[in-house]
Amino acid sequence: MAKTLTHFQARENAPPTSAPRPAEPDTDEWVRRGEMVATPLAVIPGARSERWERWARAQRHDWEWRRLARYLPARPSLAVDLGCGYGDWTARLTTIARQLIAVDMAPGFVAETTRRLRTSGHTDWTVSCGDVRRFVDYANADLVVLGGILTYLDDVEATELLTRVRERLSPDGIVQQRDWCAVNLGRAHHHWAHGQFRAHRRAADYHVLAQRAGLVVIEERHSSSLHAEQLVHRTLGMRHEGATGVMAPLARAVGRVATAWARRATVAFFLRRA
Ligand SMILES: C[S@@+](CC[C@H](N)C(=O)[O-])C[C@H]1O[C@@H](n2cnc3c(N)ncnc32)[C@H](O)[C@@H]1O
Repeated sequence: MAKTLTHFQARENAPPTSAPRPAEPDTDEWVRRGEMVATPLAVIPGARSERWERWARAQRHDWEWRRLARYLPARPSLAVDLGCGYGDWTARLTTIARQLIAVDMAPGFVAETTRRLRTSGHTDWTVSCGDVRRFVDYANADLVVLGGILTYLDDVEATELLTRVRERLSPDGIVQQRDWCAVNLGRAHHHWAHGQFRAHRRAADYHVLAQRAGLVVIEERHSSSLHAEQLVHRTLGMRHEGATGVMAPLARAVGRVATAWARRATVAFFLRRA
C-alpha cells in the first residue's frame, strides 16, 4: 500500500523509516528480467517503448559521460558498477577505468555483462552475481555507480549501502547515482509492484540519505533539463562545452516548464564524501 515519505523533508534527523519486506530478497523478478533480450526494456520495469527508452538512455548516458569527464581523473584506477544490469554503462567504463568491478543479482544480466566485457579488450575486470546490500569486495574506488538501484531499496538499506560505498571511496571518489523520483507535484511513496519493492522518493530525500551516509550531493539533474541540454549540445552548441554552457540554462528552463505536468522522472545525481 502506498505510504508517503514526506517525513524526510520535515524531520531531517529522524531515524530512517523501514518499509515492510519479505524474509527473502525480492530477486525473482530481476532474475526473470535477466533472461530477457538485453535491451533497455529488460532493466526498466513498466517501460513500453523500446525506441523511446533507447533514445532517452543514449541522451542520459552522453550527458553523464560529459559530467564524469569533469569530475574524474582521465584514467580512474577503479570503477565499481553496483546493479550493472546488462552492462550498458559498465561496457562504456572499460574505455577509461584501469580496473572494473560489476555486480548484479540476476545471473542473466551477469552473463551478458561478462560477455560484453570479454569482447571489450579490457583485461582487468570482475563481474559477479550477488546482492549489492552485502557486497564489500572493493576499496579505494574512484567511481561507484548506483544506476537505478536505490529505488528498489528501503530507507535503511539505502542508507547502509551508501555508507558502505562511502567507506570504499577514494578521498576524491565520486558516486554516480540515478533513480526514478517523484517530481513537481508528484508525491513520494513506496509500494510493491510485480513482486518488487519500489520507493519513489523526492530528489531531496536522496540528499538526506546521502547526508546520513556521510556523502553530499554535488550535482542533481532532472531528466527533462538533461535532455534539453543535450539537444543544445548536439545542435546549436556543436558539441562544444563552452557554447553549451552559455545556452544550457535557457534550454534547461524550457525543458522543466515543458514537463511541469510530470509526476515522475529520472533524476541523475553526483555525490562525493562530505
Ligand atoms: C533499474 S535496473 C538498472 C540496471 C543498470 N544499472 C542500468 O542502468 O541499466 C536495476 C538493476 O539492479 C539489479 N538489482 C536490484 N536490486 C539488487 C540487489 N539488491 N543486488 C544486486 N543487484 C540488484 C537488477 O537486477 C537490475 O539489473
